[in-house]
Amino acid sequence: MKIALLGYGKMGKKIEEIALKRGHEVILKIDADNRESLTKEELAQADVAIEFTTPATVYENIIFCLDAGVPVVVGTTGWVAHQKEISHYCIEKNGTLFHSSNFSIGVNVLFALNKFLAHCMKGYDDYEISMYESHHTQKLDAPSGTAVTLANQANEFLYKKDSWQTLKNGDKKELKHNEFPVYFDRLDDVTGYHEISYTSPIDRIKISHEAFNRDGFALGAVLASEFVKDKKGIFTTEDLFKFNPSF
Ligand SMILES: NC(=O)c1ccc[n+]([C@@H]2O[C@H](COP(=O)([O-])OP(=O)(O)OC[C@H]3O[C@@H](n4cnc5c(N)ncnc54)[C@H](O)[C@@H]3O)[C@@H](O)[C@H]2O)c1
Repeated sequence: MKIALLGYGKMGKKIEEIALKRGHEVILKIDADNRESLTKEELAQADVAIEFTTPATVYENIIFCLDAGVPVVVGTTGWVAHQKEISHYCIEKNGTLFHSSNFSIGVNVLFALNKFLAHCMKGYDDYEISMYESHHTQKLDAPSGTAVTLANQANEFLYKKDSWQTLKNGDKKELKHNEFPVYFDRLDDVTGYHEISYTSPIDRIKISHEAFNRDGFALGAVLASEFVKDKKGIFTTEDLFKFNPSF
């Protein structure tokens, strides 16, 4: 498979390493300093583009790939506000878009557990839900895209709490009766940590995931590229891993 990398930072470099090990070819590496050398003709030589850049540049890059008719796998987070618009554009173009706030197998298991736990806790109103995430200090968005996915998943199941609020860990803020807190920290050397807990006066249930390095995200992005290469439409890691519980 011929891969174009849009974004050659920490993730782009790790994806290249894993893609090469899996027998793929990286034919294009675009980063901020050579963005002008990205042309539709060059991009069209690729079977798939993998986009890990920044919240400010991801929108333009996705549109560019869809216009070039190249399937695009998007790992960049912080673009949920554009998701509907981009989905419509992808369908209109008969294009291919694979996106996920987290490509790691472990976090996708956590997504499935999170849904199952919220499903179990529905109606047990003595339990207060809260979430916490921490990442390295260079991360641009807060809360993380993964935390946004986890919070939205819980909201779908918990009818008492149908909204959430982002809070810097340690900050105090009055929450509305239907909101739960999503706390975040930005600390040195944290690749990614997510935790969901339900606390009652008598006990606490907690599930969490801790990434030790970026390998899991990069492998997932390459697996997603292999999965999506010859498909049309919009896909996420739920389609790839199929861990989704059925109730
Ligand atoms: N979905 C996941 O599983 C997952 C996992 C890790 C990181 N991420 C997200 O991926 C994104 C990138 O993460 P990272 O750790 O590689 O960050 P990074 O800062 O190391 O790399 C981003 C790179 O994008 C480059 N860039 C900026 N503008 C560009 C443009 N217009 N075109 C091409 N490249 C451009 C920057 O120069 C930089 O090298 C972030 O949004 C992060 O939150 C997602």
